[in-house]
Amino acid sequence: MTPPKSRGAASSGRGSGRRRPTPPRTSGGSDGSGAAGASRGTGASRASGAPKKGKGKPQRAGTTRPSQPTAAPQWPSRPRVDVHDPDGVRLQKLLAGAGVGSRRVCEDLITQGRVEVDGQVVTELGVRIRPTQTVHVDGVRIQLDESRVYLAFNKPLGVVTSMSDELGRLDIGDFVANRKERLFHVGRLDADTEGLLLLTNDGELAHRLQHPRYGVPKTYLAQIPGPVPRDLGRRLRDGVQLEDGPVAVDSFRVVDSAPGKALVEVVLHEGRKHIVRRMLAEVGHPVITLVRTTVGPIHLGDTKPGKWRNLTSTEVGALYAAADL
Ligand code: URA
Repeated sequence: MTPPKSRGAASSGRGSGRRRPTPPRTSGGSDGSGAAGASRGTGASRASGAPKKGKGKPQRAGTTRPSQPTAAPQWPSRPRVDVHDPDGVRLQKLLAGAGVGSRRVCEDLITQGRVEVDGQVVTELGVRIRPTQTVHVDGVRIQLDESRVYLAFNKPLGVVTSMSDELGRLDIGDFVANRKERLFHVGRLDADTEGLLLLTNDGELAHRLQHPRYGVPKTYLAQIPGPVPRDLGRRLRDGVQLEDGPVAVDSFRVVDSAPGKALVEVVLHEGRKHIVRRMLAEVGHPVITLVRTTVGPIHLGDTKPGKWRNLTSTEVGALYAAADL
């Protein structure tokens, strides 16, 4: 039997990451014929405004002869994308391998129309794909490519944010030297800041997570001299003027206080150099210690300084969503 084809209107897939795919109206047609595939209505094709179905050549306005029955307006069909690769691996096997669920559960997800490949809902079980194709389950991106690595590293104090420091100082590369992938650090932490730094060989994700356009929030715990005035949170939320422009926090709270000092949590989506230190110094509370505890949906958790852990597939999916991928 010829492997079934999964076809539908091409979609960039951009922005669809957080949407649950609409189940197709028909799920049959697994005879591999282009016609059966083309008639399958995917959520992507309907969302894009593509014509539902039709045969014959597209007609321009004014070219229909009055003697002929009036046809519904038609547009040139959109390019079709075939997600099936005969040399690929069965979709349910890849999903199960990525930890989505057992092979059986993954088969059910597919037949229920909850799995999208390259922006198209796939409902047949015979579809094979390459692990590098873009897969979403219930709108959450699933990374199937096992060569992709996503680590949450707890950068210790005194370590330079560089994979290879030119001056020979202790750097991040020293902690992942036994790994074969070429890793990038997502953003930077000062040498005297501790905490969460994401490491990955997924260049596009790393780039987007750092881009101001995606505004990924980061949480810091700062120890500062106390007491903390009641209006400090409001001042920081309203914005503080720095020499390179204003900065405002998304949120601020006092976590703990003791005579002469306080532990505060600030959340901001800025990536400028020394931004937390400069902001708190500007309002009269220079940072004593600084730890980053979250980056977007990823938490440092109990990973010890100098250690790293692999992100779960759910965490990777959440990062993709944060980066609108
Ligand atoms: N803001 C700082 O001041 N330092 C860091 O390391 C990160 C954010």
